[in-house]
Amino acid sequence: MTSTPIFDDVSVEEIIRNTIAFVKDELKDAEGGHDWFHIERVYKNSMLISEGEKVDKIVVALGALLHDIADSKFHNGDDTVGPKRASEFLKTQNVAEEIIEHVVKIIENVSFSGGNKTQKFTSQELEVVQDADRLDALGAIGIARAFNYGGFKNRKLYDPEITPKLNMSPSEYKASNAPTINHFYEKLLLLKDRMNTETGRKIAEERHVFMETFLEQFYAEWNGEK
Ligand code: ADP
Ligand code: NI
Repeated sequence: MTSTPIFDDVSVEEIIRNTIAFVKDELKDAEGGHDWFHIERVYKNSMLISEGEKVDKIVVALGALLHDIADSKFHNGDDTVGPKRASEFLKTQNVAEEIIEHVVKIIENVSFSGGNKTQKFTSQELEVVQDADRLDALGAIGIARAFNYGGFKNRKLYDPEITPKLNMSPSEYKASNAPTINHFYEKLLLLKDRMNTETGRKIAEERHVFMETFLEQFYAEWNGEK
């Protein structure tokens, strides 16, 4: 996908190329909101956000590319599969041990999971990847992804009788079967205040406004007002 190399170092470029091929293959049957194109957007946004931050771009790139190879949502809640596969892959690429460890920590800690879990690790590289991943949950793409995921899980679009639940524990959040509109209140609209970087926050605010407009229109149509 990238014709312009991001890294001057030829061997790093090769690792990135191999990682892209590996991730594309791992995600060939993925749900539409968590497929290669999600990764590609998160990768590009991570590189964009990195411009304004003091980070190791190799760690950011590998973290972004590998962050969703085995999402626990699609592995019966097992959140050890992704980090393990990523680490095994990076070893085949002779990536330095400390980089592998950092990338694994990014994969383990990037997820929102209801927003109420205590994050055990932080680094600027994680903050960049987390912002890029969160941006993809917002705006037009965020809306499309939410409804695709809801459809994938056979959830209702909306049910006025089922109200959103804030402050869910990570396990409650994972087990929730609520209509997709609830996800806006349980996650998507909370994200703009949780961004880590300036660049991320600015883009998030614009996408947030777009989602609010969408919701207003949605309720107006639901109630036959428009
Ligand atoms: P996290 O686990 O950190 O919340 P996810 O990977 O679950 O992040 O969420 C990624 C995207 O998947 C969300 O932004 C949304 O588009 C979709 N998604 C996840 N859970 C739901 C849900 N309950 N309803 C609708 N979409 C969801
Ligand atoms: Ni993601």
